[in-house]
Amino acid sequence: MIRAVITGSGSALPKDCVTNADLEARVDTTDEWIVERTGIRQRYIAGEGETTSSLATDAARKALADAGVDAADIGLIILATATPDHTFPATATQVQQALGCRGGVAFDVAAVCSGFLYALGTAESLLRTGMAKKALVIGAETFSRILDWEDRTTCVLFGDGAGAVVLEAQDVAEDGPGILATKLHADGEHKDLLYVDGGPSTTGEVGKLRMKGREVFRHAVVNLAEVLGEVLSDASVTAEDIDWVVPHQANARILDATARKLGLPPEKVVVTVDQHANTSAASVPLAFDVARKDGRIKSGDLVMFEAMGGGFTWGASLARL
Ligand code: UT7
Repeated sequence: MIRAVITGSGSALPKDCVTNADLEARVDTTDEWIVERTGIRQRYIAGEGETTSSLATDAARKALADAGVDAADIGLIILATATPDHTFPATATQVQQALGCRGGVAFDVAAVCSGFLYALGTAESLLRTGMAKKALVIGAETFSRILDWEDRTTCVLFGDGAGAVVLEAQDVAEDGPGILATKLHADGEHKDLLYVDGGPSTTGEVGKLRMKGREVFRHAVVNLAEVLGEVLSDASVTAEDIDWVVPHQANARILDATARKLGLPPEKVVVTVDQHANTSAASVPLAFDVARKDGRIKSGDLVMFEAMGGGFTWGASLARL
């Protein structure tokens, strides 16, 4: 059977690391509050010359090298971001140009923090239909540029970064590698709980991120537990079969609550929120790359990806490496 198989990963962070102590000097907050409520200890913030496309290109190059795939052989690039370099063209086309691939398909996906799951699901479908043989799926963000740096309820939570995977269509055995099941959801009812208060067609300005954190938290735990159950059932596996969960890194307490609901031991959950904070669409592939490169996630492992974000949008995907 033809499956989309993850054959490589890469990630990139801006140079500048900003600690909670650094933020104490900027807004009315404390390291203690941030660590206790979120688990975040530091985040990376893009500086001059660092953009969503530059971080994405860096992560994509590392993923290509890891997979041993030539940029020229990539027929599809899907880049998940809510902070594109420009309103248009799609940032994916800038990455395509920087990598030197020509003629394939390249587009952005806007599903905010669930963007990587949406991009992965879309790429998987397109690879299985034969539209392309090799794809780059990227999550990249510079959320620091849409934060209100006077709003302590949001500015301490986010960071910048990028993560990428190479996905290849391969003819594999039933128990072989590849993406086994994906479920995606959206519900526009809750737009006002997490949104950016600007845009080209409304204010003409980029706008700033606004969030009612407590309500988002409540929905996240419920929605994620539900969608994880759906994917497990679609793939006919149980929570005990999972080797690793690679979740969207919004809040350590959400990760704990979701793992508890699934009956998963916390040791199976990859946590990078302490190091990177919430990097929106970049957080899942960034965390995945960290855990692959440090040797935790290995070939043959059953890995669950999951995320929830603005829209609301949410989803999960199960892959055997
Ligand atoms: O990535 C997309 C999905 N996003 C999420 O999943 C985020 C989900 N939400 C969360 O992670 C949490 O709700 C937050 C971390 C955003 C907030 O934690 P919380 O425990 O829900 O706190 P809260 O919003 O209920 O605020 C508690 C208190 C408030 O003070 P009062 O009203 O109780 O006096 C806030 O004003 O904490 C105060 N507060 C802060 N204090 C120090 C809010 N932000 C800060 C801050 N430093 N940075």
